[in-house]
Amino acid sequence: MSRERLSAVDVIRTKRDGHRLSDDQIDWVVDAYTRGVVADEQMSALAMAIFLNGMDTAEAARLTQAMIDSGETLDLKVDRPTVDKHSTGGVGDKITLPLAPLVAACGAAVPQLSGRGLGHTGGTLDKLESIPGWRAQLSTDEIEQQLQTVGAVVCAATEGLAPADKKLYALRDVTSTVESIPLIASSIMSKKIAEGASSLVLDVKVGSGAFMKSLAQARSLAEALVGIGKSHGRNVTAMLTDMSVPLGRAVGNANEVAESVEVLQGGGPQDVVELTVALAAEMLSLAGISTDPRRVLASGEAYETWCRMISAQGGDPTAPLPKAAHVHVVSATKDGVLTHLDAYSVGVAAWRLGAGRARKEDAVQHAAGITILAKPGDLVRVGDPLLELHTDTPDAVPSALDALFGGYDIGDEARAPRKLLIDTIR
Ligand code: URA
Repeated sequence: MSRERLSAVDVIRTKRDGHRLSDDQIDWVVDAYTRGVVADEQMSALAMAIFLNGMDTAEAARLTQAMIDSGETLDLKVDRPTVDKHSTGGVGDKITLPLAPLVAACGAAVPQLSGRGLGHTGGTLDKLESIPGWRAQLSTDEIEQQLQTVGAVVCAATEGLAPADKKLYALRDVTSTVESIPLIASSIMSKKIAEGASSLVLDVKVGSGAFMKSLAQARSLAEALVGIGKSHGRNVTAMLTDMSVPLGRAVGNANEVAESVEVLQGGGPQDVVELTVALAAEMLSLAGISTDPRRVLASGEAYETWCRMISAQGGDPTAPLPKAAHVHVVSATKDGVLTHLDAYSVGVAAWRLGAGRARKEDAVQHAAGITILAKPGDLVRVGDPLLELHTDTPDAVPSALDALFGGYDIGDEARAPRKLLIDTIR
C-alpha cells in the first residue's frame, strides 16, 4: 500500500487552530476524501473547523478547484457565448424556466444543469418533469447538440461533475455544517465552473424563504461567490434579490410551469417578469450581447425557443399539465389589506401538500402546490379566497394549514412594498 503524503489529523489541526490551509493540504485532503482514504469522521471534523474558523478567498478558491478536479469537466463546443444562472433557492422561484429560452432567443447559449428540490425550496427538474414526456437526463453530446440547435438546455447535472462536492455536501447535511459561507460558495462554484459556462449570474436570495435570512449574510455569500468565480477567470455577477414573499402566484411544480409559460407569452405576474428581465439583461451583458430582452420577450421569440427546448427533450409543450384531485381554499376572515405573506410558510405548506420531497428518493406530486390569489398590498374582504391548496392527498391539508398559521396577516394599512432587486455585486 502506498504511503499518503500528508495526514488528515495534521490538516484538521491546522484549521482547528485557526490557521490557513496550504494549497497542498487542500488538494490532498479533497483527493484523499474522494478516494476514501480520509474517513467521513475526519472530513466532518475538518468541515466543522472550517465552519468555525472560516477560510479566506484564496483558500475557498483552492477548495473549489480541488472539488472540480475530483471529477470531469464539460468542455462545451458551441459557437455562441455560453452563460448560465444559478439561484441559491427560493419559494416560487421558477425563473430558470422563462429565463433560459429568453437568453437563448437573444443569442447566447444557456447550459443550465439543474437539481431537484429538497426541503421547502423547489427544484427546476421536478417542475419540468410535470410536462408529459420531458426527459431530464441528457448525454454530453446531446447537451452540446441542443445548445447548437436551440441555444438552451435545462437538464440534470451529469454524474461525474464534482463528486467530492456530492460526498462532502451529504456529510455537511448530517453534521450541521451546511451554513458556512466558504463551504456553500465552493460547493456551488465547483459545480458551476465544472459545467463550463464562461459567464455566470448568481441570484442570491435574501429573506425567510431563502438559505440566507439576513442581508449581511447574503452579501457575504455573494462576495465569496464572485471572488471564487473571478479567481477562476469567469465573468461573474451576483444579484441580491428578495425572498421574503414567494415569487409570483404559483408555488409547486406544474403550476409553476404554467406561470412560466404565461410570462413567455407576454403575461404573468409582474415580479416574475421583472426578475426574469433583470437577470437576462445581466447575463447578456456578461456575454457581450446588446439585445434588449424585454423586446424579445414581447416578440414571442422566447416562447418559440421554449417550445423547441421542451420538444428537443421529448416533452410536449402543448400537452395539458396535471391537475390535483383535491383543492382546499383558504379565505380571508376579515376585511382589510394583506400586509404579509411569508415565503417560508408558503414553501413548507406546498412541500407538505406533496410538491416537495423529504428524502432524495421520494417522488413529488406534480400537481401539488399553492396558488396565491392575494399578494401583500391587496385589499381583501371577508370570505375572499387568499390561497388555493392543491394536492392528490387531502390528508396533507391540515399539516399544510399548520405551516401557514401566522404566515399571513390582514391589517388596516399596507406595509411599504418590498424591493425585489436589492443590490448587484460585480
Ligand atoms: N447549494 C449547493 O450546491 N451547495 C451548498 O452548499 C448549498 C447550496
